[in-house]
Amino acid sequence: MCEVVFMKAPICDFVKKYCADGALRLHMPGHKGACFLGVEQRDITEVEGADVLYSDGEGIIAESELNAGRLFGTKKTLYSTEGSSLCIRATVYLCAMLARELGREPLILSARNAHKAFLSALALVDAHVEWMFSSDEGGIVSCRVSAEALEEKLSGMKEKPVAVYITSPDYLGNEADVRGLAEVCHRHGVILAVDNAHGAYLKFLPESRHPIDLGADICCDSAHKTLPVLTGGAYLHISNRAPALFAEMAEHAMQLFASTSPSYLILQSLDMANLYICDGYRERLAALCYEVADLKKRLEEKGFSVVGDELAKLTVATKGYGYYGHEVARLLWEKGFVCEFSDPDYVVMMFTPEIDRGGIRALADTLCSIERRGEITEGAPSAPCAERVMSVRQALMSSSREVAVEDACGEVLASATVSCPPAIPIVVCGERIDEHAIACFKYYGIEKCRVVKK
Ligand SMILES: Cc1ncc(COP(=O)(O)O)c(C=O)c1O
Repeated sequence: MCEVVFMKAPICDFVKKYCADGALRLHMPGHKGACFLGVEQRDITEVEGADVLYSDGEGIIAESELNAGRLFGTKKTLYSTEGSSLCIRATVYLCAMLARELGREPLILSARNAHKAFLSALALVDAHVEWMFSSDEGGIVSCRVSAEALEEKLSGMKEKPVAVYITSPDYLGNEADVRGLAEVCHRHGVILAVDNAHGAYLKFLPESRHPIDLGADICCDSAHKTLPVLTGGAYLHISNRAPALFAEMAEHAMQLFASTSPSYLILQSLDMANLYICDGYRERLAALCYEVADLKKRLEEKGFSVVGDELAKLTVATKGYGYYGHEVARLLWEKGFVCEFSDPDYVVMMFTPEIDRGGIRALADTLCSIERRGEITEGAPSAPCAERVMSVRQALMSSSREVAVEDACGEVLASATVSCPPAIPIVVCGERIDEHAIACFKYYGIEKCRVVKK
């Protein structure tokens, strides 16, 4: 329906021609295009004509990024070959630079379920954080903040943060009220930054639910999580309404933290995705979402509790059906279904138009064949609201030692202790570990942590 007639895949075209020309590769990588895994021929580096990532130039990468920017309707879209993690570091840096320009402290108000990349970004940039909690039942994974709660929080803050940072969708598929949150932020002169690692595809739903369209100033999307892109491919998006400094400094921010050897395989994959999305992707996605809706309906009729807002993700809260999330994931694994994530409460499955449709029907049959048991009533612990003893940066830069979590009471956490996925810190570095935190660690299967040496 769209731009396909105008759009090209310049990075792919260049590499194809480079391979066909058969030049002797007197450059990196060391495999010289010989076949080991089978992908080496197309794995090149920044040779003449191949452009340089984050060079702010007019070469093939810049052209491809412009194509992506047109698809996402942004002021600027930059590629990452190091996931959303790199984009998050750049985002925190840009927020800190904005704070400096405005003569404000580099303070970010964040929902507590931030990915661990956000913590290391705070430490690297020497930015500060204030956390927002919520009464959500999703344990540590969810932290839905309403527009009203944000309004109250920002109104009560003497020192306004430079940015509000939220994760939407979260790992369970909950989507925040980005529109409402953006309105509140902008009324208070604060940036809204969104970790949209799980939501690149939201742009291509019949009605876009992408954060940039809902009012966010900046966001990251892990293209590799929901689009047909190789692992590591991601976007940093800057909206048309973001402060000029964001677009001006975006390349600088990315190259500050990025490897100088970007993967051209991932760049080609991001480049190819532009063409692919233009060629009937929206229709394929809409059809997939109908099928996932049918699957959810069938599971609910069977008695499963389906949670989350995302149309292409299935999250089942399993305890009401008598199982821990891990148990259902294990049962599925034994039948050849590998889930994205499970914890004691949930099992999460991700779908894209590329999945085998027969597989979705087989999954429904398998889930429905699981015998219902008596409800498990034990709930997930709330996210610890621990005492802050030192900054994230001080804690991460301190000498530390590893201890068993049961020996950690009263100690200060030195580095993010997470189960991966979802890689959400239970306690934040620099906070004191108390009994509740230890109970949380144990609940999520964490046995050891690093604490600051006294
Ligand atoms: C919410 C969230 N943010 C950020 C990341 C990091 O993304 P990436 O793996 O693309 O670096 C993840 C990874 O799982 C995530 O779940």
